[in-house]
Order: sequence, then structure tokens, then C-alpha cells
Amino acid sequence: MNRKEAFLNYQAQITKTPFLLDVKKAKGSYIYTHDNKKYLDLVAGVSSCTLGHSNPSVINAAKKQLDEHTHVMVYGEFIQTTPLKLAIAYGKYLPKELNCTYIVNSGTEAIEGAIKLAKRKNRRKKIISCINSYHGSTQGSLSAMGTDLMKKKYEPLIPFHENIRYNNFKDLSILNEDVAAIIIEPVQGGTNFITANKEWLQTIRDRCNKYSIELIFDEIQTGFGRTGKMFGFEIYNIKPDILCVAKGMGGGMPIGAFISSKSNMSLLSQNPALGHITTFGGHPVSCAAALATWTELMNSDLIQSVNQKRELFIKNLQHPKIQKIHGIGLMLALELKNDKYCEKIVKKLLTNGVITFYFLFNRNNIRISPPLTINESEVLSACNIIKKVLDEN
Ligand SMILES: Cc1ncc(COP(=O)(O)O)c(C=O)c1O
Repeated sequence: MNRKEAFLNYQAQITKTPFLLDVKKAKGSYIYTHDNKKYLDLVAGVSSCTLGHSNPSVINAAKKQLDEHTHVMVYGEFIQTTPLKLAIAYGKYLPKELNCTYIVNSGTEAIEGAIKLAKRKNRRKKIISCINSYHGSTQGSLSAMGTDLMKKKYEPLIPFHENIRYNNFKDLSILNEDVAAIIIEPVQGGTNFITANKEWLQTIRDRCNKYSIELIFDEIQTGFGRTGKMFGFEIYNIKPDILCVAKGMGGGMPIGAFISSKSNMSLLSQNPALGHITTFGGHPVSCAAALATWTELMNSDLIQSVNQKRELFIKNLQHPKIQKIHGIGLMLALELKNDKYCEKIVKKLLTNGVITFYFLFNRNNIRISPPLTINESEVLSACNIIKKVLDEN
């Protein structure tokens, strides 16, 4: 059995048509395969590899932590230097309403924790989220997902979840004293990077204040510089009550967090205690990678360069077959004429050495979410290959 057959046989599959790139190593903006090919990565593990692949500061921090200790105890019992430093760093940067961090292992766990925290806060049941939202794949976050297609076969899911239309003012009348929380992505990552309208978000914030509803921002894709700000909420100057992060947080290592005020978080430690439990949450090696990522983002001009890089993409992706470019920062969605054509172009790009991807709920846009460290010549080379492939197909 060769490697491809073994992968298809022994590893559970989630689609009938996986990309099947046979990865040997990855460095900077490139992934290298066992058949000696080199791919320019415009996806970055779906907005995860913030500082590129195998960034030396991330790798060194993780190695140093490995030499000190790995897992020592379940979350929340022992004082461990690296997770503590990480929580302090976030606490110092974020507003006081978001000064307490609960570190978990993934995005979906961050959402689960946030939903539980909201229910503890106002003891209500109803959770609102948006059509076409993606918040994760476990039962709670799946219950919030904004499409029936992916939920139906897993019913019964958690009741009292309702979807409203993104950027639709009328639907906000649902926000009243029955609602525990509303979960919003500042930029919808499962569709073609649709961006929230500022007045709409402000209306949500106002209604949440009025009815004591917890406003949860899912910044699992938008966090850590991807939008051109450290967090998406900074673009709008609207603060959530609970902030969920993951993906780009770890610079390529698995980690997530839900972040809220100290007084909110204290609800999880009493009456009953152990309100949210995780064995590996706050794993020191992932925290070391996250701290290195954070330090690099804070001490470099990477975040400031995000919009210049976006402009460079846009300037060099002017092509009659690209109908529109959606998104914000280094979240670009190239709209093509239809789903079939889009699929063809993504595949052709791969054979031309450029990795792009689809969107979960939108199939006529190509996803571009490269490492924030992508440089000018890599952007230009990517754009030239995209235009060549569009010309030829
Ligand atoms: C906006 C958003 N929320 C939540 C998640 C779930 O994160 P994870 O895959 O780490 O569970 C994702 C993952 O793609 C996401 O994009």
C-alpha cells in the first residue's frame, strides 16, 4: 500500500476529493512535498499559520518549553509560567472587560466555553447566531451553525438556537430578555469573507446592553492581525463581552481561548465549581508557540503591513474573470462566475504550485488567507500564476 492508499484507508476522510498534498516540510510561505514539489501557500492552514510555516521564534519557543515540561496537570490547578505569561500578555493588551483568559485546545472548544459562560451569566437558554456562520463542529457550536444542511443529520442538537440574517437590522428584534447570547463573526469565514456593518454591530451591542445579553465575538479567524488590527473588534471599536480566539493564535500549534471579564469567569469556579474542565487546555507547548506569535506581532510591523499586502493583491489581481474581491485585510475572496469554474481554478492553481481553497457555504469564491509574513515578491508571483491560470481556463 503506498502512502496515498494508506492515507485514504487508515485516516478517516471528510471529503471524497481531498487535495492529497504529500507534505514533507513547510517553511515560510511554502509547503514542500515528498514528490519534490514546492507550493506557495495562500491558505496558511485556513488562517492559522500567522507567521508562516516553521517560524524560528515559534519553533524555538516550543522546543525550549519541551525541554522544561509538557503536560503536568489539568487546566487551572498548577501555576505554569508559559500559560500564565500568555494570559498576562492578553490581559494587558485587551480592555478591562476582557481581562481574564481561559485557554483551551481549539476554536470549537472556545465557542463551547463561551456559550456555557453566557448561560451561567444570565441563566437564559436562547442562543442567537447568523445564517452562514461557522463556529465549529462539536454539538454546541454545531447547534449554532448557520446552515441546516450540515446540521440535519446530527439532530437532535441543542434546542433554543436560532439563526438571523447577517447585517440585517430587522432580525435584531429577536434580541430581548429571553436571549442568553448572540455569537457574531466580525468577518464571516465560512462564506466569502462578508464583513459586518458597523451600525449593525453597534445596534447589536446596544440591544445586548439593554437586555443584558452576552455578546460573543467569534474571532477565531479574524484574531491576531489578519484583518489589519490585532483583533477584528478594534476595527469597529465595539467590545464583545466574550471573545473567542484560536487558529492564528498558536502560529501553527493547536490552541484556543475564550476571554471575558474576571467577574464573568469567576462564575465557572463556584456553585458548582469546575464549570468548564479541560485536561490539555493551556498546554504549555502550545502556549509557548502562542506567546512567541504574540510577541512577534506586538514587536514587528507585520500587522501594519497587512493592508499594504492586501492592496498589492488587489492591484495585481485585476482580471476580467475575477468579478469582485471581497473581504478585509489578508482575508480575500475572489469571486468567479460559478461554482464549477471556481473548483476548476482551485485545482489548476494547485497543479501550478499555488494553494488556494474554497469556502464552506460559498463555492464560487476562491479563498486567499496567506501567512501575514508573505512578502512582496511572493504576492506578485501568486498573482501572476492566478492570472495565467485564469487566462488559460
Ligand atoms: C470562525 C470560526 N469559528 C470557529 C471555528 C472552529 O475552530 P476549530 O476548527 O479550531 O474548532 C472556525 C474554524 O474554521 C472558524 O473559522
